Amino acid sequence: MMMTMASIRWPWWAARRGQVEMTASRDQNIGRTPHIPVLLRPLLAACAPVRGLWLDGTFGAGGYTRGLLEAGADCVIGVDRDPLALQMAQAWAGEYGDRLRLVAGNFSELDAHAGALLDGVVLDLGVSSMQIDQPERGFSFQKDGPLDMRMSQSGESAADLVNTASEARLADILYHFGEERASRRIARAIVEARSPDPITTTLRLADIISKCLPRPKPGQSHPATRSFQALRIAVNEEFTELVQGLVAAERALKPGGLLAVVTFHSLEDRVVKRFFQQAAGEEPNANRYAPVKENTTARFELVTRKAIGPDDVELAENPRARSAKLRVARRTAAPAKDVDAGTLDAPDLPQSQSKKAQTQKGQR
Ligand SMILES: C[S@@+](CC[C@H](N)C(=O)[O-])C[C@H]1O[C@@H](n2cnc3c(N)ncnc32)[C@H](O)[C@@H]1O
Repeated sequence: MMMTMASIRWPWWAARRGQVEMTASRDQNIGRTPHIPVLLRPLLAACAPVRGLWLDGTFGAGGYTRGLLEAGADCVIGVDRDPLALQMAQAWAGEYGDRLRLVAGNFSELDAHAGALLDGVVLDLGVSSMQIDQPERGFSFQKDGPLDMRMSQSGESAADLVNTASEARLADILYHFGEERASRRIARAIVEARSPDPITTTLRLADIISKCLPRPKPGQSHPATRSFQALRIAVNEEFTELVQGLVAAERALKPGGLLAVVTFHSLEDRVVKRFFQQAAGEEPNANRYAPVKENTTARFELVTRKAIGPDDVELAENPRARSAKLRVARRTAAPAKDVDAGTLDAPDLPQSQSKKAQTQKGQR
């Protein structure tokens, strides 16, 4: 069933972000969106036996949370920054009674949401099928909708960004967060197109981008794929969230607790891989003549040495899983550390200009 914003009324709208918990099962009108959780089988296998208190930092349609509860977790705290995701869960959350707690908030603060040491944390990064498939959320370049892309439904939208950021900033976003080689060309076309008519819909933006790139050959992705990914990452500050979420998970896990992360593109996977390597003291030396690095106390042990991808059965069931990668590590008893995002190769925008200077509201 299609949801409208008008139908969302929850106590947390008025509450401080991340502070509200629910165990409800009510709104009978909310259906379960068909959603196939990605890499759930290998995740549960790598984490077996699943016991104790877990936190699912990307609750989405609740596929991982249900999987963990069915596999033997005593309790799962499901966190999502998208109020609609938690609202959809009301149709079934009651089945699990007080074994399931739902929290509206960001996983960068997951240790605060947990309020206790955890036996496991799962993060399944990016957007859900639910979000992509609803044109009114503005994530899709294939269906027309408002240019929104905000998971939390608050803050600066993609339309705000596209219509006010300077050409240089737009180009940086497309290049650094989408690896779009035609970033400058696309940024110029956006800036030319947005005046006098601001760009407010997904299909108009997709069309502007498509005209800057060669027509895709059969089997190639839509020309707007990389740009839409980049804008979504910028709007939702996904790399800041990711780095802070990994660090928060390290703080929140008990010795022996597990951290499982599923990524969807190489930029994300690189950050998770570097984090695990650093935390496990297994970073390769940059060159073989470099002095041997001091042996730090490992804060994690790697459970998966290589990232796990979908097998043929999963790919046949769910082609969207094709770029997913799972990495799992186990927390040791070593004290948690803060991590410098720069050392994780997390993509970032050039620091030289302040955001204010980069924003040229109304100039074009
Ligand atoms: C790929 S989906 C997760 C699907 C889920 N594993 C399932 O099986 O249903 C990602 C979800 O994480 C949420 N999300 C993304 N980044 C987040 C963040 N930083 N904090 C909290 N939730 C986030 C999104 O709103 C989305 O609902």
